[in-house]
Amino acid sequence: MKKTVLCFFVVISVLAGGMAYSSDGKAIKAMIELKAGNKGDVTFPHEKHRKAIEDCMTCHKMYPQKTDAISGEMKTGKIQKKQVMGHCMGCHRGMKAENKMTGPTSCNDCHKKKS
Ligand code: HEC
Ligand code: HEC
Ligand code: HEC
Repeated sequence: MKKTVLCFFVVISVLAGGMAYSSDGKAIKAMIELKAGNKGDVTFPHEKHRKAIEDCMTCHKMYPQKTDAISGEMKTGKIQKKQVMGHCMGCHRGMKAENKMTGPTSCNDCHKKKS
């Protein structure tokens, strides 16, 4: 019995240790909804990218590591519409050309149709 309880806590702490936190201690969402106007929002698997791409700055030199960073940078004009998308696509296309496992390159695989 004691062993079972101990195992339970080991599992819990391993799971908790695998979670990611931002610098202000908030848990980082595994999936993030990105607004893309009439084209339909894009579900971005952040966790997968954090694991697949070693350097956070590959993306975060363009926008800060915080919630709604992209819309914030767009409001101040620091980044333009489709600039982020161009970055997503550029990486996916490049890796695809090298036959590496990567993300989608066709519109509707990222943009969810609005009904
Ligand atoms: C492939 C691009 C990419 C990589 C690599 C990446 N991020 Fe992000 N990150 C994003 C995007 C896109 C958002 C969402 C911004 C928004 O909501 O406008 C985001 C959001 C965040 C947020 C806010 C999370 C939330 O829950 O709102 C934090 C914190 C963050 N990233 C930290 C990191 C850290 C730390 C790394 C490296 C281990 C990393 N990111 C790697 C693209 C990336
Ligand atoms: C890898 C995922 C991905 C693919 C593939 C993709 N997009 Fe996007 N798109 C995004 C993201 C993320 C945004 C929001 C950020 C931005 O505007 O840069 C966006 C934004 C847009 C916007 C701007 C919407 C607005 O009003 O703010 C348009 C229009 C658009 N995409 C059209 C397209 C078309 C057309 C294609 C196919 C040729 C396409 N997208 C393929 C991810 C993608
Ligand atoms: C520097 C390269 C890079 C950038 C930038 C990048 N991705 Fe990806 N993307 C990847 C790789 C690598 C994978 C495959 C990860 C995996 O399957 O573990 C992937 C996978 C995906 C997937 C599919 C995940 C799945 O479960 O099959 C989606 C959707 C996606 N990316 C969307 C985006 C969007 C939206 C952006 C921009 C905000 C973006 N990516 C930026 C490299 C990139």
